[in-house]
Amino acid sequence: MNVAAFTQLFITEQQPGVWLITLNRPKALNALNQQVLEQLASAVAWIESQPDARVLLITGSGDKAFAAGADIVEMKDLNAQQARDFSQIGMATMHRIENSRLPVIALVNGFCLGGGCELAMACDFILAADNAVFGQPEVTLGVPPGFGGSQRLPRRVGPGMAAQLLLTGEKVKADEALRIGLCNQVMPPEQLLERGVEMAAAIAKNAPLAVSHCKRLVQVSGDQNIENGCRMESDLFGLSFATEDQKEGMGAFTERRTAEFTGQ
Ligand code: CAA
Repeated sequence: MNVAAFTQLFITEQQPGVWLITLNRPKALNALNQQVLEQLASAVAWIESQPDARVLLITGSGDKAFAAGADIVEMKDLNAQQARDFSQIGMATMHRIENSRLPVIALVNGFCLGGGCELAMACDFILAADNAVFGQPEVTLGVPPGFGGSQRLPRRVGPGMAAQLLLTGEKVKADEALRIGLCNQVMPPEQLLERGVEMAAAIAKNAPLAVSHCKRLVQVSGDQNIENGCRMESDLFGLSFATEDQKEGMGAFTERRTAEFTGQ
């Protein structure tokens, strides 16, 4: 397989180890249909298989949208069983991103609604352009979210704010998304990719296994009691002392040089 196989996505390596997936349906505001969802999951697997891959960025093509949701045109005539199946395809893609060994950053440019917001929340964190608009407007279409929004939004912004957004279907602009902790930083659209690559490059310099462990520990922190989470942290801390990167990182510190990590 090569990148040309992904007809609904652009895939580029922005810097050594920093990969970018761009959803490529700008005329439909990058709406997520089944083909996009399946290609997205395969693209994550393909990028992970590149030996130098360290960080993944996801964005939308065009200047209007990250993704304006699951594809309403494709969904509207589904029966209950077909809709459940479609939801499961979307869920699998979101889990694939969330469980990637790579840190994943969403670069949100414009509309980030419904399934688009669910995709952004499956990433480790979100950087937003100041034209970003977030929301879970599914209730205005007669349905609840289907790609995990009801579960990821409360974990991001707390249950009260999540309930407000989910029950009203209201949309929030980038500054409000920043205030409630849905996104981490807001910037002019023309700086979004540059800032994303810069942050990815900073992550890529660190020890890959330690970065992966941090990703996993943050993820489980919402689901565990603190003793279980801390036990897992101890286990991973201990395991990391069996890696070359721990010896390199601490050795470089004491030798006053920059560490060169290999992921071993
Ligand atoms: N699905 C399919 N097509 C979509 C779409 C979507 N979610 N969102 C936008 N489009 C299409 C429009 O149909 C339109 O196509 P045509 O030019 O062929 O008519 C094109 O994108 C441009 O959209 P608009 O003309 O509507 O653009 P606008 O600037 O006037 O409005 C918008 C932008 C406010 C984002 C509006 O498009 C909109 O409200 N979109 C739907 C948002 C939404 O409800 N998302 C949730 C979907 S349900 C979901 O995601 C379920 C789930 O969790 C799994």
